[in-house]
Amino acid sequence: MDSSSFNMIDLILKKREKGALSQQEIEGFISGYTAGTVPDYQASALLMASFLNGMDENEMVHLTRTMLHSGRVLDLHNIPGLKVDKHSTGGVGDKMSIILAPIVASCGVPVPMISGRGLGHTGGTLDKLESIPGFSTQMDIESYRNQLADIGLVMIGQTEDIAPADKKLYALRDVTATVEFIPFIAASILSKKLAEGIDALVLDVKFGSGSFMSDETKARQLAETLADLAERFGKKTVALLTDMDQPLGRGIGNWPEIQESIACLQGEGPDDVMEVTLALAAEMIVLGGKTPTIQQGMKMAQEAVVSGAAWAKFRALVAAQGGSLDAINNPTQRDSAKQTLSILATQAGRISRVDARIIGKMAVALGAGRMKKEDIVDPIAGIWLHVKAGDQVAVGDPLAVLQATSSEPFESVSKRILSAFEFDEDIKKIPSRIKDRYSSGVWVNP
Ligand code: URA
Repeated sequence: MDSSSFNMIDLILKKREKGALSQQEIEGFISGYTAGTVPDYQASALLMASFLNGMDENEMVHLTRTMLHSGRVLDLHNIPGLKVDKHSTGGVGDKMSIILAPIVASCGVPVPMISGRGLGHTGGTLDKLESIPGFSTQMDIESYRNQLADIGLVMIGQTEDIAPADKKLYALRDVTATVEFIPFIAASILSKKLAEGIDALVLDVKFGSGSFMSDETKARQLAETLADLAERFGKKTVALLTDMDQPLGRGIGNWPEIQESIACLQGEGPDDVMEVTLALAAEMIVLGGKTPTIQQGMKMAQEAVVSGAAWAKFRALVAAQGGSLDAINNPTQRDSAKQTLSILATQAGRISRVDARIIGKMAVALGAGRMKKEDIVDPIAGIWLHVKAGDQVAVGDPLAVLQATSSEPFESVSKRILSAFEFDEDIKKIPSRIKDRYSSGVWVNP
C-alpha cells in the first residue's frame, strides 16, 4: 500500500465498527508502527478495537505473515534433515527445553531453538542457560547456522533482526492490557518461531495456575489456533495440552532447574518432568522423520537418555556456547556460595496441591526472575520442593528449601510460601500431566 493512501484513522474506525482489515491495511499498520511513523496512541487504539471486536482467520494470517517478514527469516535448507523446534507457553519449573533439545538432537533431528526470558511468575530458558557460568545466548546468524550444522543443536535468544515488529508490539500490548488475546498471542509466538528456519513445530500449551493462560478452555483454543496457523504456513505441527497447576519437578529457579535438567539427562529426573519431556521429544523425533510412530519416538528418546547420548549432546552444546563444563559436571560445587532456609510444615496431613503460581512468584521474589525489566536475576536463587501432591507430612517436616545469594528476601517469602501447600486426606490418584493432543484439526486423548 502506498503511504499516501494509508490512513490510520480509517483503520481504527473500520475495526471499531467490527470490520475486517485487509492484507494491505495490516501491512501498512505493521510497517508504519515498526518504522515509527504510526504513533503509539493510534496503534494502541487499533489494538484495543481488535481486542474488543475480534479478528478473523484471514486477519490473523496476514498479521502473522507481516510480523514474520518485519525481520529476517532464516533459511536452513543447506543443513541436512528436517529441523524441528518446540515452543512452550511457559510454566513454573518448566525446564523441558533444556532436557528435550539435547535428547532430540542426539536422535539425529537438528534443533534450532530461539528462546525467551522469564515472564511474570514463569521462568525463561535463556535465564536458565545463562546461569551456567560463561554460557552465551547471543550469537550472529552465521554462527547459529554453523553450530547447528556442527552439533545439530543451538539455543539462543531473539536477535534484533528476528520479528522486530513483535518486539515493539509486545511492549505496547503489555502496557495497554491487550496481551491476553489469542490472535495477538498466536501471531506473536509464530512470527518468531517461523523465522527460525524450522520445518516442523511441537507446541506445549499449558493451563493451570502456573501458566499464563490458566483457563483450560482458553488454553485449548490457543493450542488449536497456534497449530492450525502454523500449518497454514506449511509447518507440520502437533500441540500437547499439559497441566501446569503444580510446579514441574522439584527445582524452581535458574540454576536449580539446570541442576535438575542434568539429573534428567543422566536418567535420574523426576517422573512428572520426564513424562512431559519424553512425550514432547517423541513428537519431535516423529516430525523429524526419524521414526513413524510416537511409541518408537518415545523409545528412541528413552534410549538417548539411558545410553548417555543426550547428556553428551548437552555437554557439546554447553562447550560450543562457552559454558563451563566444570560447572555442569559438578553441579553441587556452587552450594557453598548460597544461603538457604528450610520451610517446615506447621500442620500434619497429606499434601493435595502445591500452587504453582505462588511458588513461581516466591521464586521471583527470591531473585530468580524480574519484577522490573532491568532487574538482574540471581542465578542460584530458587526453591527446592521437598514435597509434592500425594506426600504425607508431619509437623516440622521440611516442605521446601529456599536458596539465594542473599538471605534478605527469606523473611517475607517464608511467610507467604506456606499458602502454596494445600492439604486433603482424600486426595485421589495424581492424574497425568498430559491432557490432550491436537494434530491436523483433531483432539485425541493420548
Ligand atoms: N509469548 C509471546 O511470545 N507472545 C505473546 O503474546 C504471549 C506469550
